[in-house]
Amino acid sequence: MKIFKKLLVIGAVMGAIGLAPIAFAQTNLPEIGKSKAEIAKAAFKEDAKCTKCHDESENAPILSIYQTKHGVKGDSRTPTCTSCHGQSDGHLAGDKTGKGRPAPDVVFKKGVYAKSSEDVRSDQCLTCHKGTKRNNWAGSAHPVNDVVCNDCHKVHKPADPVLSKQTQTQVCFTCHKTQLADSKKNSTHPIDVKKVVCSDCHNPHGSTGPALLKKNTLNETCFLCHAEKRGPLRFEHQPVVENCANCHTPHGSNITPLLNSRPPYLCQECHDGTHASGSPVGFNAGGFQSGKTSGTQSANVTGRACTNCHSMVHGSNSPAGGYFQR
Ligand code: HEC
Ligand code: HEC
Ligand code: HEC
Ligand code: HEC
Ligand code: HEC
Ligand code: HEC
Ligand code: HEC
Ligand code: HEC
Ligand code: HEC
Ligand code: HEC
Repeated sequence: MKIFKKLLVIGAVMGAIGLAPIAFAQTNLPEIGKSKAEIAKAAFKEDAKCTKCHDESENAPILSIYQTKHGVKGDSRTPTCTSCHGQSDGHLAGDKTGKGRPAPDVVFKKGVYAKSSEDVRSDQCLTCHKGTKRNNWAGSAHPVNDVVCNDCHKVHKPADPVLSKQTQTQVCFTCHKTQLADSKKNSTHPIDVKKVVCSDCHNPHGSTGPALLKKNTLNETCFLCHAEKRGPLRFEHQPVVENCANCHTPHGSNITPLLNSRPPYLCQECHDGTHASGSPVGFNAGGFQSGKTSGTQSANVTGRACTNCHSMVHGSNSPAGGYFQR
């Protein structure tokens, strides 16, 4: 009897759960779904103008755009074929003169037809994507050098390679061979293993900083991850505050860690001449102890050279950190 009662309760609960969605579906869902379904229906109808010819029989992936955010047809902001390729009346009307079917209004990639100009192609995307990350697109390095949206973005592909950390660098490296070579050097950012990728430091759409960097200055960009190097410190080393690139190169170097040159030479680019007279080791510009031009090298050139003693090259907060020694 007890068991029977339990079963009844369970049954009632299950019934409630089971029935609720049905009731919901019969009353509410069509109401909510209606507008979405209508939007989708209208969008597919608009697309059918094109998809009646351009379907899955094409070599290039066309209909796979429906697997992307551009294919969410229930969303009224979603583009149809014509939002990107233009109304293309001539192309739709076809070959009345026998001279061949005119091109669609916007052709993104050279195939049967020549591709549209860079401005026409990027403006078409910018109708929906102006602003935010693309505030500084106009006049920036890529469009100025005729590199536009679909040189990086593959919108018909189910997964656009440039949007994934795993595949982004391959896209950039097709054009940026120097950075590819740099990423293979002894000391690099972990770019090869995709832990840090180009867009962690760069906004390829344009920026207010130098070299398409995400932040206004190079140092601000470094502080995104190396916050511990941000001052203010009690004793600051001027070149560090000024620009990390005084000593470091971002993409790769054979001198660890990402250094432009090896100490003591790195330091001697600015600190030439003899060492401080009060210091325990006098030495000349060659890194040798005073009065010598060869023979036993001082601590200045062995091991970590200058940083054997000046270990706090980035500055110091220690009350006794005046010469960046602690
Ligand atoms: C009546 C059939 C037909 C319709 C409808 C049609 N096209 Fe085409 N389209 C073609 C043919 C034929 C070509 C020539 C290349 C080929 O054989 O695929 C072509 C080529 C293209 C190309 C260039 C492909 C390349 O490799 O260069 C694009 C882009 C394109 N069409 C887009 C559209 C869009 C967008 C629509 C809807 C507005 C549309 N087409 C409607 C038949 C059609
Ligand atoms: C978001 C904008 C956008 C939408 C929407 C869009 N296309 Fe495209 N289409 C492109 C771009 C960009 C290319 C160039 C190929 C590439 O780089 O991905 C292209 C290429 C093509 C090509 C040439 C194939 C090739 O790769 O050379 C055809 C044909 C085509 N589109 C047809 C269509 C049809 C049909 C629709 C609607 C179902 C459509 N497009 C929707 C942007 C769009
Ligand atoms: C009619 C408006 C419209 C046009 C034209 C358009 N897009 Fe989009 N795009 C959208 C919408 C809507 C989304 C989805 C945004 C969201 O989900 O927040 C989107 C998303 C994207 C995304 C992000 C995709 C993702 O998976 O996160 C990229 C990249 C993109 N568009 C590139 C392009 C490019 C390149 C073109 C031109 C070839 C283009 N778009 C043309 C409306 C448009
Ligand atoms: C040099 C390569 C490159 C070019 C050119 C490029 N993009 Fe992107 N785009 C990227 C990368 C990388 C990302 C992902 C990282 C990010 O979000 O900054 C991205 C992200 C996006 C996104 C999704 C994130 C967002 O902003 O909402 C949209 C949308 C987009 N791009 C649109 C465009 C449009 C439109 C153009 C042309 C005006 C364009 N892109 C040109 C590389 C590029
Ligand atoms: C850790 C941050 C960081 C990463 C990751 C990064 N960059 Fe850079 N990149 C910079 C900085 C900083 C500069 C400016 C260098 C200078 O002014 O000395 C720069 C400059 C550039 C330049 C201009 C030429 C030059 O070397 O000065 C190109 C091109 C470039 N980067 C491409 C890339 C590409 C492609 C990737 C991805 C493989 C990438 N960068 C990853 C920080 C980065
Ligand atoms: C189709 C080729 C192409 C692709 C793909 C490409 N770039 Fe570029 N990029 C260029 C050209 C051309 C320039 C201008 C000449 C130069 O500085 O090398 C440039 C310049 C740059 C600069 C230097 C800007 C400056 O002010 O010095 C950076 C940074 C950069 N690209 C980053 C990227 C990143 C990140 C990607 C991938 C998301 C990428 N690029 C993809 C062609 C490309
Ligand atoms: C997106 C995050 C990020 C940004 C931005 C960034 N870094 Fe790094 N950096 C890292 C990571 C991750 C490592 C590797 C740390 C590790 O292996 O423990 C690293 C390592 C380093 C190293 C040590 C390399 C070695 O061989 O040991 C130096 C030097 C360095 N970064 C300098 C810079 C400079 C200069 C900038 C600005 C131009 C910068 N980083 C911007 C993430 C970043
Ligand atoms: C005056 C030259 C110089 C400048 C400028 C400089 N560094 Fe360094 N950096 C070095 C040297 C030398 C080393 C190696 C230190 C060692 O061997 O003890 C180093 C090491 C590093 C390391 C790896 C070890 C650690 O301390 O974490 C990072 C990360 C780093 N620097 C980031 C930066 C950033 C970010 C900036 C700009 C704010 C910067 N550096 C400016 C000379 C410099
Ligand atoms: C780009 C130029 C530059 C480079 C490279 C450079 N420095 Fe400096 N350094 C300076 C300047 C400028 C000062 C401040 C001088 C002053 O205040 O008179 C300074 C000051 C110093 C001081 C003295 C601080 C004090 O309290 O008087 C030491 C020690 C020092 N640097 C060590 C190094 C070491 C070690 C390296 C190499 C890892 C190095 N510097 C690389 C420009 C540089
Ligand atoms: C054996 C330890 C040691 C080594 C190695 C060393 N220094 Fe010093 N350095 C010192 C000491 C200690 C002082 C402080 C001198 C004082 O108290 O007057 C000093 C002071 C300085 C100063 C500030 C005073 C001045 O002369 O302007 C600079 C700059 C400097 N060192 C640069 C360097 C450079 C560059 C190297 C590498 C080529 C280097 N040091 C190698 C110990 C060292």
